[in-house]
Amino acid sequence: MVLASAPAKIILFGEHFVVSDRLAIAAAIDLRAKVEANFNDSKFFSFLSKKNNFKIDVNFDDVVNGRINNYNSFFKPLLFILYEISKCLKLERGIDFIIDSDIPIGVGLGSSAAVSVAFSAATLKLLNYNFGMKDIIIFASKGESLAHERPSGIDPTISTLGGILVYRRSEGFRTLDVSINNPVIIGVTNESRSTAKMVMKVLNFKAKYPKIFDFLYEANDIIVYEAIEALKSNDLLKIGELMNIAHGLLSSIGVSSLSLERLIYAARNAGAYGAKITGAGGGGAMIAVCDSEKIGLVSKAIKDNGGSVISSYISNCGVKIHE
Ligand code: PMV
Repeated sequence: MVLASAPAKIILFGEHFVVSDRLAIAAAIDLRAKVEANFNDSKFFSFLSKKNNFKIDVNFDDVVNGRINNYNSFFKPLLFILYEISKCLKLERGIDFIIDSDIPIGVGLGSSAAVSVAFSAATLKLLNYNFGMKDIIIFASKGESLAHERPSGIDPTISTLGGILVYRRSEGFRTLDVSINNPVIIGVTNESRSTAKMVMKVLNFKAKYPKIFDFLYEANDIIVYEAIEALKSNDLLKIGELMNIAHGLLSSIGVSSLSLERLIYAARNAGAYGAKITGAGGGGAMIAVCDSEKIGLVSKAIKDNGGSVISSYISNCGVKIHE
């Protein structure tokens, strides 16, 4: 049996802009997805999601021949990863997979990427493959490309590596050797949204107003450069102010919502240095940074305005095999 786990993420700066090869900063947090993999003696792969108590059995030949379209969409990214792995490594027996996760689904905290990363690591380890971090990112990204249409790759990268990264699609990642010891407060609205749809909405908007977007994209990169310095000097005030500016850009490209704005203004009015959307927006998660003594007030303000609160720490622990 192999058990692997991988973390959720927050995007501190640069979501959406990163899709068009602009800079972003992402951080892993201490919520995790776990995948257990066990050989079985049948010609089936079984997938059990503990969170929604849902199970499917998948015919071995369907996976190795890439016939995965008719299976449940929740598991399809994992089937696609398995298919891609089967092109490189010989699969001879069925495998039982059990998926368990603390990460809220579909709110912008990278739950699908964390599951894809833990799944890729568990499968490669079970197959005795001598893999590195790069292999996990490559296979997990295959799953992400099925879950979202044009993923930048930032989610599987941060979930594999942990810590805080500066990322650009064409250049890959650079680790930022900084630590934020304060918790990051995450507020979540109950609106449903789809990353793929939000990404397409922004790209269509960009196609309509290319000159305006050029300036917004340039502003994003300047914010990220300033944010790198602020993170290095642990200047929470500046990090917060830059988050507020970054949120203004996200709002201007149409990815905020009334519920998100309520949570963001509530957090700021309760004393947070800054608050912004994290992830694709349109609903889902926002983040706020504040001094330790304000955590209670900021959390309460988010709850009073209809959000659920997750208080989370940035985590250096990326993907992990639990021996
Ligand atoms: O899937 P989410 O909500 O965590 O958003 C990912 C960040 C985007 O920049 C919106 C998309 C991407 O692929 O980078």
